[in-house]
Amino acid sequence: MLSSKEKFIDIYRKNTPFVDREYIKFSKELGVISIEDDVIELISYIAKINNFKNVLEVGSGIGYSTKILSKVMPEASIISLEKNEERAEYAKRYTSDCKNVEIINDDAITYLKNSKKQIDFLFLDGAKSKYLEVLDLATPLMIKGSVIIADNIFIRGKMYSEDLNRRNRTMVKKLKLFLESIFSEEFDSILIPISDGVIYAKKK
Ligand SMILES: C[S@@+](CC[C@H](N)C(=O)[O-])C[C@H]1O[C@@H](n2cnc3c(N)ncnc32)[C@H](O)[C@@H]1O
Repeated sequence: MLSSKEKFIDIYRKNTPFVDREYIKFSKELGVISIEDDVIELISYIAKINNFKNVLEVGSGIGYSTKILSKVMPEASIISLEKNEERAEYAKRYTSDCKNVEIINDDAITYLKNSKKQIDFLFLDGAKSKYLEVLDLATPLMIKGSVIIADNIFIRGKMYSEDLNRRNRTMVKKLKLFLESIFSEEFDSILIPISDGVIYAKKK
């Protein structure tokens, strides 16, 4: 059931190409959390007002966000990386009708170490502890004006929690280093507090 606020927002969600609740549910059953509606709307709008040609997604999951990227950037070439083999197979099947998508079953770090392909739009939705390493490898492939969207910056509250185990403390520390980099001189950046926290950054 949608709340009154959600119903109101829904009226003005004009950029989202489609919603597939069944697939979102299936994804959740497999333990893969798909992109949320607010983030889809934001990315779709950014795609509309830009003309991205080379898109890189880190973390296809089972392909829900990848299909959205394909629909909102039909002219772009979209590479989506998924390190888990089974998920990559699901993603390939789900996006089989998307002619501009290539799902690659690889770790983003390995892939980026060997890639020379320009990136105009980078969507970060893989392991949060790897955001910084991915950013460092991706930045040289970007041009002035390239855009980065990084999802789940709050890590479901862990980013501002004072009660964390060692593993989560390490993850938070690494994500804070990513924030330091993304808020450096190299980018114009904003933390948008929608959904689980989103970074929007533009390379200067
Ligand atoms: C939150 S899910 C992605 C959900 C998907 N973007 C969506 O919205 O439908 C994160 C995925 O990133 C993958 N992943 C994590 N670290 C990765 C890495 N270094 N390289 C490639 N994939 C990675 C995980 O296996 C997982 O399937």
